[in-house]
Amino acid sequence: MNQTVNPIDTASLDPLETASLDELRATQVKRLQWSLKHAYENVPFYRESFDKAGVHPEDVKSLEDLGKLPFTTKADLRDHYPFGMFATPMSEIVRVHASSGTTGQPTVVGYTQRDIDTWADVVARSIRAAGGTRNDKVHVAYGYGLFTGGLGAHYGAERLGCAVIPMSGGQTEKQVQLIRDFQPDIIMVTPSYMLNIADEMERQGIDPRELPLRAGIFGAEPWTNDMRLALEKRLGIDALDIYGLSEVMGPGVGMECLETKDGPTIWEDHFYPEIIDPVTGELLPDGEYGELVFTTLTKEALPVIRYRTRDLTRLLPGTARPMRRIDKITGRSDDMLIIRGVNVFPTQVEEQLLKIDQLSPHYEIEITRQGNMDMVRVRVEAASNDVARDPVICEQLAKRLQHAVKTYIGISTQVDVCGVEEVMRSVGKAKRVKDLR
Ligand code: DLL
Repeated sequence: MNQTVNPIDTASLDPLETASLDELRATQVKRLQWSLKHAYENVPFYRESFDKAGVHPEDVKSLEDLGKLPFTTKADLRDHYPFGMFATPMSEIVRVHASSGTTGQPTVVGYTQRDIDTWADVVARSIRAAGGTRNDKVHVAYGYGLFTGGLGAHYGAERLGCAVIPMSGGQTEKQVQLIRDFQPDIIMVTPSYMLNIADEMERQGIDPRELPLRAGIFGAEPWTNDMRLALEKRLGIDALDIYGLSEVMGPGVGMECLETKDGPTIWEDHFYPEIIDPVTGELLPDGEYGELVFTTLTKEALPVIRYRTRDLTRLLPGTARPMRRIDKITGRSDDMLIIRGVNVFPTQVEEQLLKIDQLSPHYEIEITRQGNMDMVRVRVEAASNDVARDPVICEQLAKRLQHAVKTYIGISTQVDVCGVEEVMRSVGKAKRVKDLR
């Protein structure tokens, strides 16, 4: 039989991925200079803000010089809604995406054809880092549409030469039907929605461990290493972390490598990372926790210079690749709860509840105010209805979790152990906190 040969040689997709650090830094400087000049010459906002800071793109001769430039924030993008931050004319734009945000006004991002190609390349590289090859079928359950998850994953999987199943989010029964019938090797979905899909598999009498599914590429929301273990055990897969944000590109800004599973490698040849003190804005050395900041090095339509992500993490040296990694994101500074003076992230609660076998990983945190006291209620589902029906066990489980949260996080909570499916399920990003104050 005459076989059609895929012209993409996946092994040679990205020579820079394995380049030495010296080579990488030299490329970054060159690309940075291009990106700053491009932003300065084509986006009035950047021209103004660089001028105000008294820095000209030509003053930036090294990566260290980047620190002379001011930050860019989500508010800056909102102020120039919808297209005011674009650096290319509309005739060059081939796609827009938008993130919903909490304030109602979406943040709009744009891509040229070359941006779409770069994005497909970094996502292809990411799927490859998860052990994916052109022989794989990839089920995409990130939402398609204005959200970057679905289409970003889709183009990357196609670029690698995989067979893409563009399922999008929702229709959980159908997700399971397609996974059972099409037998994908890799699934790309938020970790919280993966849990829902796994529940539905079990409801339909399917043992997820029996399926050929080999790897999950999970991201778009914070999730803990304990959640990784829970997903791996339940599904019999490798669970890997993909990171990204629309303002910088979408999924595939960084990806965890299968061989090390130690936090996403940032694809630094396209996205230059820094960590700053979120309060003072001071640059922090690698290894210290702070807010992640990105400067795009190759993006045409929407270059972002020192963009403050609000994501809290630290930069770590490369392991599987020479490029640096980030530690698992603890949360966004916007999601940090301050409960009676203690800083708390939902992921810290997640870590504690996943240690208790008879509790499920479905949970939400409700905050109310009584007088001037903040009250925290954790609602978590029992692992089964048998557990949920036994008030004595539920009471014991609630006490255990309450005690663990008090001991390890330092806040008093009320814990309600509820029945299966009583906590709101997500089909995309989970909403963990209900702030009723
Ligand atoms: O969530 C892009 C994406 C889609 C990433 C699919 C991964 C997979 P936004 O909707 O703009 O874009 O939201 C970006 O989501 O600033 C983080 O707070 C959070 N986030 C994304 N990936 C991770 C992750 C997409 N792996 C915001 N771990 C980011 C923790 C993540 N948080």
